[in-house]
Amino acid sequence: MSIPATIQQASGPAIHVRGLDKSYKELRVLRGVDFEVARGSIFALLGSNGAGKTTVVRILSTLLKADAGTARVNGFDVVTQATDVREAISLTGQFAAVDEILTGRENLILVARLRHLKNPGVIADDLLKRFALAEAGARRVATYSGGMRRRLDIAMSLIGKPPVMFLDEPTTGLDPEARIEVWQAVKELAEGGTTVLLTTQYLDEAEQLADRIAILHEGRIIVDGTLTELKQLLPAAKVEYVEKQPSLEDVFLAVVGRTGEDTAN
Ligand SMILES: Nc1ncnc2c1ncn2[C@@H]1O[C@H](COP(=O)(O)OP(=O)(O)OP(=O)(O)O)[C@@H](O)[C@H]1O
Ligand SMILES: [Mg+2]
Repeated sequence: MSIPATIQQASGPAIHVRGLDKSYKELRVLRGVDFEVARGSIFALLGSNGAGKTTVVRILSTLLKADAGTARVNGFDVVTQATDVREAISLTGQFAAVDEILTGRENLILVARLRHLKNPGVIADDLLKRFALAEAGARRVATYSGGMRRRLDIAMSLIGKPPVMFLDEPTTGLDPEARIEVWQAVKELAEGGTTVLLTTQYLDEAEQLADRIAILHEGRIIVDGTLTELKQLLPAAKVEYVEKQPSLEDVFLAVVGRTGEDTAN
């Protein structure tokens, strides 16, 4: 079986992070963050507002320098090999970065042209189809719903087939239906071999999507594991013969030291 060159690039984990520290003046946001993301997997970085999720994503996507520690993406060091890292990644930020005046199709063509790809029109049409935007493709983005914009944003970030994708809060502000559509798109990407690191505040999002979940709290990763492993951190509450598994929300509240109403510590 032939593996696309971009994915073949390097062996080992797609993302490798050790001892990341970052302060903004006196505010110590990251205090030794460690984690790894396996190739072709979906990794969710969970944390409350201000936990430092976007800071981690900005460091990994070479937009920001850490004060200490190392990070490698697709085998490349984010500081000394920043250009290689940029070629291997795409970043969908916390706020959709599409041009409202252009149509969906024009947005995609623009990005394909910027990346010097052949047949930008074909690339655009393929992506519109894949993200259920074929009918809306000729309409200005200003007329799109939030879910459509997000899907277009993700479609744009796929142009050039980067092996590693960063999605910073991909579904914030979307309605349940649009969220499910974005989840579907992310799952399909991972099935196609793309490594996805997403940040979220929605525990059900991590529960639905992620192969591995890490909780960032007070500057460190305090828990990192599969959903099953995380659930094993709390005993199941037994009610008669029915076993109630703790939800990810119960685990989250317990490990960050806040007690949910029906979570016994
Ligand atoms: N450029 C900056 N200058 C000063 N402080 C900053 C800067 N960027 C972020 N911070 C602070 O660092 C902390 C972490 O911010 P960050 O954006 O990484 O958190 P987050 O986990 O992404 O939060 P959210 O869930 O709200 O997006 C916050 O307290 C934030 O106010
Ligand atoms: Mg953020």
